Amino acid sequence: MSKSSDVYKPSNEFSKAARISSMSQYKRMWQESVEQPEKFWAAEAKELAWQQPWKKVLEWNAPDAKWFVGGKLNITESCLDRHATGDRKNKAAIIFEGEPGDRRTITYAQLHKEVCQFANVLSKQGVKSKDRVLIYMPMIPEAAVAMLACARLGAVHSVVFGGFSAESIADRLEDSGAKHIITADGGWRRGKVVPLKDNIDEAIQRNKAIESVIVYQRTGQKVAMKKGRDFWWHELAADASTKHEAKAFDSEHPLFILYTSGSTGKPKGILHTTGGYLTGTYATCKYIFDMRDDDIYWCTADVGWITGHSYIVYGPLAMGVTQVIYEGAPNFPDFGRFWKMIEDHGVTIFYTAPTAIRAFIKAGDHFPEKHDLSSLRLLGSVGEPINPEAWRWYHEKIGGGRCPIVDTWWQTETGAIMISPLPGATPTPPGTATLPFFGIDAAVLDDSGKEVKPDEQGRLVIRKPWPSMTRTIWGDKARFKKTYWSDYDGLYTAGDSARRDKAGNFWIIGRLDDVLNVSGHRLGTAEVESALVAHKAVAEAAVVGRPDDLKGQAVVAFVTLKAGFDESEKLQKELRDHVGKVIGAIAKPDDLHFAPALPKTRSGKIIRRLLKELVTTGSVSGNLTTLEDFSVIENLQQRLAKS
Ligand code: WT7
Repeated sequence: MSKSSDVYKPSNEFSKAARISSMSQYKRMWQESVEQPEKFWAAEAKELAWQQPWKKVLEWNAPDAKWFVGGKLNITESCLDRHATGDRKNKAAIIFEGEPGDRRTITYAQLHKEVCQFANVLSKQGVKSKDRVLIYMPMIPEAAVAMLACARLGAVHSVVFGGFSAESIADRLEDSGAKHIITADGGWRRGKVVPLKDNIDEAIQRNKAIESVIVYQRTGQKVAMKKGRDFWWHELAADASTKHEAKAFDSEHPLFILYTSGSTGKPKGILHTTGGYLTGTYATCKYIFDMRDDDIYWCTADVGWITGHSYIVYGPLAMGVTQVIYEGAPNFPDFGRFWKMIEDHGVTIFYTAPTAIRAFIKAGDHFPEKHDLSSLRLLGSVGEPINPEAWRWYHEKIGGGRCPIVDTWWQTETGAIMISPLPGATPTPPGTATLPFFGIDAAVLDDSGKEVKPDEQGRLVIRKPWPSMTRTIWGDKARFKKTYWSDYDGLYTAGDSARRDKAGNFWIIGRLDDVLNVSGHRLGTAEVESALVAHKAVAEAAVVGRPDDLKGQAVVAFVTLKAGFDESEKLQKELRDHVGKVIGAIAKPDDLHFAPALPKTRSGKIIRRLLKELVTTGSVSGNLTTLEDFSVIENLQQRLAKS
């Protein structure tokens, strides 16, 4: 790559081989694609497998979008059947590596059979079209098999990240109304077993609606199996046929619900539908990752997040690429694991998160230096802004100064990447996701709805509908409208603040709502607060984020205790563990401060802004006139200075 004044450009060699080779080509295609988005998206959708063509590309009645109206498809035919019955029959779809080191390669023909077989299993268990099925699995190929088998039947999967707690599972079961669960006995993480089935048992103790729990045997430890409710995957599969006819579903048929944090305590069930979602994930894999038949692609996300849905399961499989799936932790047995895997499997495209990159930087260059990373040709980043230092390290130490980096901005709600460089075309200053993808009309607006001037900060919006956009929040259309569509008439607000530079690049600054970005994962401060106040010792809690070198943001909690409870290190630990138990380990407060009182307005609202300033800078400045009692802040300031 060449570089001038900190702007990196792809090499001529890379550009020439890429689908989009120059900025002029990008600009021309982008212009056309936003003038006539329906034309652009229809051309992409035509490359997928439809059983019945659509009659109309888009029906738009803001905020209700219907894409490929009248079209019918079975999404798994694009991801499996067309490869398995064609040239990619014996091509590896998945190269799996378990944390203990076990390896398996699954061809497209085999994956197709496994999905068909498991679809037959689910069908026999009574799973029908539009039924919700909760999936709680380790990062093993069967997680993808479970998702695809649901999709094949038109059932709606709702994957819950394996790091979430029993209580989080229980909430999601209740909200989605799922009656069927697919899980495993356990999964491997840092040499230990994550007790997935035990967590499910705890979550459904009082849930009489659950009809079946199918358990994949991964780790082999003993688990309780309730007769008539719990079934072993391998036992059910043994009797099931590997043939399954793919029924066609409407383009707008619900595909999955994925929960994500918002600014209230209750996570939102983001709903995605079929035809448009597939088109968005497919087209972005094609142009942004420039996936080719000889690529070995590896996305290090978990299927419990949207990145795993779009860029492990649906997009890459629709492209027919070979991909690596890894079960465990990046630092097991040490920080060389990823680099060893890239060398061993000859990975060409690697997609990971800034938080992982920062942890690798800290661990030391000697880890990547021990490995031959010359197979890599393209790198990706997702989840939070990548700081320029991390970008440059990634570029030099992992990419050998040779690989373009695509910093991809998007969200659970957008379904697919929205803003990103195109690797063969876009000149990239480190730290910016650069320019909108084809068909995406992104802008930064001020409060009055006007576009801000270059380098000024505003709200990031999308002005035109796109196929992979979320259709609603499950069971809460009002919240959907209020959260995303009420700031500006007919425009989607992402909830991020951003600015554009003179070249038009989008620099994402951060969330505008009470949502933290912890290691690239969204976490609502209200969720952590409600977990804390559910503890018997806690009277009130306020949670804010503070900048953290590794995680991006760290979770800081302020807690006032009920009468009869005393501040102690033991209670501090108990409260942190309690949050871990209620939500999951990612939500555990990094710092937990006891406070005699919290800063409030005269009307009794907690002023989180002051707490945030306090933990970020050590003091507070600015407008304090709304504060009811100034001594509260003074007291906290003294306590923090001592801690
Ligand atoms: C939020 C969405 C999209 C998959 C992972 C997270 C932040 C995401 C970037 C990026 C700056 C980013 C935003 C966004 N974000 N990617 N490349 N640069 N910020 O999905 O949990 O739905 O979170 O993550 O704040 O709104 P998510």
